[in-house]
Amino acid sequence: MCGIIAYTGKQTASTVLLQGLKQLEYRGYDSAGISVLSRGKLRTWKAAGKLEALLHLLPTKISGKSGIGHTRWATHGAPSDLNAHPHSVTVSLPDDQNRSNNPESTVTISLVHNGIIENSEQLLQQLQDQQLQPQSETDSEILALTIASIKSQQSVSLLEACRLALLQVHGTYGIAAMEPDSSDIILARNGSPVIIGIGEGEMFAASDASALSRHTREVTHLEDGELACLTPDGYQVQSLNAQPSIKTAITLDVQSINHQLGDYAHFMHKEILEQPATIARTLSGRLDHRFNTSHLGGLNLDARELLDIKRIKLLGCGSAYYAAQSGADMIESLARIPGDAEPAAEFRYRNPLIERDTLYIVVSQSGETYDTLAAAREIKRKGGKLLGIVNSVGSTIAREVDGGVYMHAGPEVSVASTKAYSSMLVVFALLALQLARIRDLSPQQGAHIVQALEDLPQLIEETLAQEEMIKTVAASYADVSSAFFVGRTSAYPIALEGAQKLKEISYIHAEAYPASELKHGPLALISPTTPTLVVLPDNDLLEKSLSALEEIKARQGPLIALTNSPDKRIPKLADHVLKAPQCHPILHPMVMAIPLQLFAYHCALALGRDVDQPRNLAKSVTVE
Ligand code: AGP
Repeated sequence: MCGIIAYTGKQTASTVLLQGLKQLEYRGYDSAGISVLSRGKLRTWKAAGKLEALLHLLPTKISGKSGIGHTRWATHGAPSDLNAHPHSVTVSLPDDQNRSNNPESTVTISLVHNGIIENSEQLLQQLQDQQLQPQSETDSEILALTIASIKSQQSVSLLEACRLALLQVHGTYGIAAMEPDSSDIILARNGSPVIIGIGEGEMFAASDASALSRHTREVTHLEDGELACLTPDGYQVQSLNAQPSIKTAITLDVQSINHQLGDYAHFMHKEILEQPATIARTLSGRLDHRFNTSHLGGLNLDARELLDIKRIKLLGCGSAYYAAQSGADMIESLARIPGDAEPAAEFRYRNPLIERDTLYIVVSQSGETYDTLAAAREIKRKGGKLLGIVNSVGSTIAREVDGGVYMHAGPEVSVASTKAYSSMLVVFALLALQLARIRDLSPQQGAHIVQALEDLPQLIEETLAQEEMIKTVAASYADVSSAFFVGRTSAYPIALEGAQKLKEISYIHAEAYPASELKHGPLALISPTTPTLVVLPDNDLLEKSLSALEEIKARQGPLIALTNSPDKRIPKLADHVLKAPQCHPILHPMVMAIPLQLFAYHCALALGRDVDQPRNLAKSVTVE
């Protein structure tokens, strides 16, 4: 998703900005640009495409110690040079204004914006009434023109012009703006993260802490409805009502945000292979052998409060939602508490009933997904008990929930989630165990699960050892144009995630269905060129799932079985078998995710796709 970087201080601004943009690349983007204050003038360069396209445009030397930069992920208007940010706009002062007091008859500003201005049509109408017309198709340029127009008409500072303009805005924004002849950077936030980095005689800002970490560890987060003015010597924050805000700086845990590719070809591959270690970190210190349970300290709920919970509602988007479906299943089957998962964006808009004895849990790797954040705020507003399961430490969701659990999976860079997904599943297993042991799960059953979870990193290691075999299978399916993923009950969310991984990075059309649904429609699409991957955990439903294999086979559909069952009929029916180790049923989603991740990765590789930054997608979706 769009990324912001801003700098004012003593270094060459363009160098800091370009380094920052490089760090932000992983978020996914389609164009990039910078504006630098050079000898009192704002100079702007921007280009569609990857950062290389921007670098080609830049002169070898750009003087100037203050500037803003942006990576854009298109919302309003196609990816193009014109729609790229920064938007540098110039507005002429009205004729009736006393020009003798204004040696320059124009106001110029440069602005970068993350988010969506929902009332841009209305703002555009106001601009057109003043004969002002944007050049691009973006809502962001409309915002830039609105700010410049207010500044020119009211002769106010850029900070005040931003404030007055933002009072008229409906929507989400993280912005950085500047003007000629001033090294100040103006920032504002509503719904899109903006983090201020504090240096010695220099100040930074970014939408993502990873872009700041090479320069400073001291940061402060802007909250929604706040604006800031950065100068090389410090910063001041105020509210949209012009009331000063007192901010406290925090020290970043650089380990938790820094990402290096090392010797790997792709972050996705690195992150898949890291899973034995990341899962061990998620588990670390949370298993209790004495009482055969788990302890998730951050829940901020004591045993009695946990016992009072009658229902659990899990909310997330994309893979986090699929993980939540597996989580609901774990909680319901182990703790016997009714649990269900819902896409966060849909939940929020259906005026949900919030119940006193329901525990609401939002799940997010980035902790910045707007739809998930908005659902969390709706639950809080209605008085619901709200927890978060989050990977990114200090992220907006982590700061806003009443309590929760960090995944400790470390920074996930690849757009396709792998290690964060498996760590979400591990947190759900821990939560299910804790809730179950407060209820009627016996100490013996609890001990089995504690042991199973302790063994999980080793099981993941064993599954990863099959990469070469999975790579060969993937290569033989990479040329298909469509694939199905099916599974029954607890295997269905695993199938959903398998299809998600394949479609997002290989661009092969992939759909997941409960295996029982095939005969109610999708079977019509089974053909010798449409493979089906059947998720077959070793459980009571194996017999029933085998009949799905038979149905597909009868229609000459190629079959891949993903299984940890030793049943001898499976290799006879399936064209290829992807093996997962035998384990406690609660671990099935974790061990079965691995072959699916590797399958998608190797299909994408065989097709020469941009694995880490697939087209049209962004790492953290901070717009609605
Ligand atoms: C996963 O591979 C996706 N790229 C995407 O579905 C992701 O899981 C979703 O956008 C939610 O992100 P979050 O976990 O950061 O909230």
